[in-house]
Amino acid sequence: MAAVTSIAASLSLNSKIASFHNGMFGGSSTQTLAFAPLKVHMVKSKQIGQTVCQAAVVSDRVPDMGKRNLMNLLLLGAISLPSAGLIGPYLYFFVPPSSGGGGAGVVAKDALGNDITVDGWLKAHTPGDRTLAQGLKGDPTYLVVENDGQLASYGVNAVCTHLGCVVPWNNAENKFICPCHGSQYNNQGRVVRGPAPLSLALAHVDVAEGKVLFSPWTETDFRTGENPWWS
Ligand code: FES
Repeated sequence: MAAVTSIAASLSLNSKIASFHNGMFGGSSTQTLAFAPLKVHMVKSKQIGQTVCQAAVVSDRVPDMGKRNLMNLLLLGAISLPSAGLIGPYLYFFVPPSSGGGGAGVVAKDALGNDITVDGWLKAHTPGDRTLAQGLKGDPTYLVVENDGQLASYGVNAVCTHLGCVVPWNNAENKFICPCHGSQYNNQGRVVRGPAPLSLALAHVDVAEGKVLFSPWTETDFRTGENPWWS
């Protein structure tokens, strides 16, 4: 009699579990049982010698832990590769373009935007020549050919210190003469007549791998013995 009661209880419990699945997944009890079969185990209790029911839901649709870890790794790889491809160029956008001078300065450019080589420049420019090149921050800057035919170690910024006109070189006068208000600078860019209040700014000129480089002049202005006003 006790065994019959236990079997009846187990069937009742099985029915309740089926109803629970029905409520969880919204299907009919027949469908739920078809996809998630229930197993009811009859277990003899050691302590009190009674038969109890133990229910377990067995589902063949849930992958084991190894498969789940593998799927997670595949998903991570599928997301990471395209993301790295997008982030790399995005970060590279913020890297300043190289001047080709190994970080020592910016390569001087001619009027056409080509890199200036020292050999090419000295072939085309005679001693005493002052010709504009593109300098630091794009400022027009004179390259100076010394009387011995060598390139000077300084360049002269052509922006007038009065109101910012570009000052041309006057070979006949051996001066830089501003056309806007008549300021004059000697052949090294030192102011010799106003209204310009200051001398023209300087830049270092160096040669690396045959190319002419400009770099900031932060030392004492050799023309005046004073600290550089532009630095
Ligand atoms: S801008 Fe050169 S003198 Fe005024």
